[in-house]
Amino acid sequence: MKSKAAILWETHTAWSVEEIELDPPKAGEVLIKLAASGLCHSDEHLVTGDMVLDPATADALGLRQLPVIGGHEGAGEVVEVGPNVTTLVPGDHVVLSFIPACGRCPSCAMGMQHLCDLGAYLLAGRQVTDFTARHHSSGGDDLGLMCCIGTFEPLTVVSEASCVKIEPDIPLDKAALVGCGVTTGWGSAVNAADVRSGETVVVVGLGGIGMNAVQGARLAGADRIIGVDLLADKRERSAQFGTTHTASSIEEATALVGDLTRGAMADKAILTVGVAYGDLVGPLVNLVKKAGRAVVTAVAPVSQTDVRLDLFSMAMQRKELVGCIFGNSNPRRDIPRILDQYSQGRLLLDELITNTYSLEDINQGYEDMRNGTNIRGLVKF
Ligand SMILES: NC(=O)c1ccc[n+]([C@@H]2O[C@H](COP(=O)([O-])OP(=O)(O)OC[C@H]3O[C@@H](n4cnc5c(N)ncnc54)[C@H](O)[C@@H]3O)[C@@H](O)[C@H]2O)c1
Ligand SMILES: [Zn+2]
Ligand SMILES: [Zn+2]
Repeated sequence: MKSKAAILWETHTAWSVEEIELDPPKAGEVLIKLAASGLCHSDEHLVTGDMVLDPATADALGLRQLPVIGGHEGAGEVVEVGPNVTTLVPGDHVVLSFIPACGRCPSCAMGMQHLCDLGAYLLAGRQVTDFTARHHSSGGDDLGLMCCIGTFEPLTVVSEASCVKIEPDIPLDKAALVGCGVTTGWGSAVNAADVRSGETVVVVGLGGIGMNAVQGARLAGADRIIGVDLLADKRERSAQFGTTHTASSIEEATALVGDLTRGAMADKAILTVGVAYGDLVGPLVNLVKKAGRAVVTAVAPVSQTDVRLDLFSMAMQRKELVGCIFGNSNPRRDIPRILDQYSQGRLLLDELITNTYSLEDINQGYEDMRNGTNIRGLVKF
């Protein structure tokens, strides 16, 4: 069938909204009518090339990343199911999880669905069912899907493993944000940082991910939440999500946290800036106390391998530096849990959406993200 999608053909070019040809779902796949897609910074990493492997590495892995339909934060309604789909029927409402959860691999079996073995195909972007494409350009090229879902399109075909069924009374356009940003930020605090009641937590970078790390820290019971952003507007808007203090740089936050804790420093610090660079890691770890934990959620360029860090203090003060993907969450457990907190009025979703766009205006949406205008931009279909 004919549909349309925002495609990235080459790095450093704009998203191209074009007519596409979409095949029906094959075995284990479903056709989804999307309500909305959030504009996460991670798709921008495709545009800048930060998340695009060099051709030799990609060839060695047998990957072809471009052209790709962007978007990995969406929700919608199941329209059609292919053969052998056992957990979904037409009419079901689903959040598309940016990491599929097969439920059977060792990581899924151990309660680490964010590390599902199917995640190996996130950047390959083909159907994880049989590694072929359902999406094709009008010129006949096979199109990849960002994170195996490609939510910059009103209709998509994805594996059943990427779908998390949700309650039908949750507004789908708000639920879309839980497909990446909310779960990643919330889980950065709740799971990766393991925030406990009474703790002092620093969140560095107050965009779509960082505001949700602030919410997660608040819901986990943190006493002090220090939000750090270069932009005054982001700092001001962070209070409604739970910051108790703000700072305009890590350096300013270090002095502030030192004052607030009588020199002990924070229990946890979470990095959620737009691009992670190695020179941010040392200052991040310096924000936490003895046996404190620093979490890196922000995505670094794939070529970034150097880190500056006070290794002596890290060992002598028994500090922890941990990675975080998708908030170290279990999408099948945590997405419904987060939406339940929204239904109870304890977690904010509506307030995260700064501007909405048509798919045709998606490049304006990303311009607004680059300018720091948006907590989250949302494409509505
Ligand atoms: N690990 C994961 O699973 C995962 C998932 C989704 C997104 N991400 C990554 O998280 C990061 C944040 O994404 P987002 O959508 O919230 O981006 P965003 O652009 O909406 O927000 C980033 C914020 O960081 C601020 N900032 C930039 N540099 C800063 C600095 N040096 N100090 C303080 N503040 C700074 C910006 O002003 C902005 O408000 C990105 O790198 C994204 O790719 C990771
Ligand atoms: Zn994302
Ligand atoms: Zn799995």
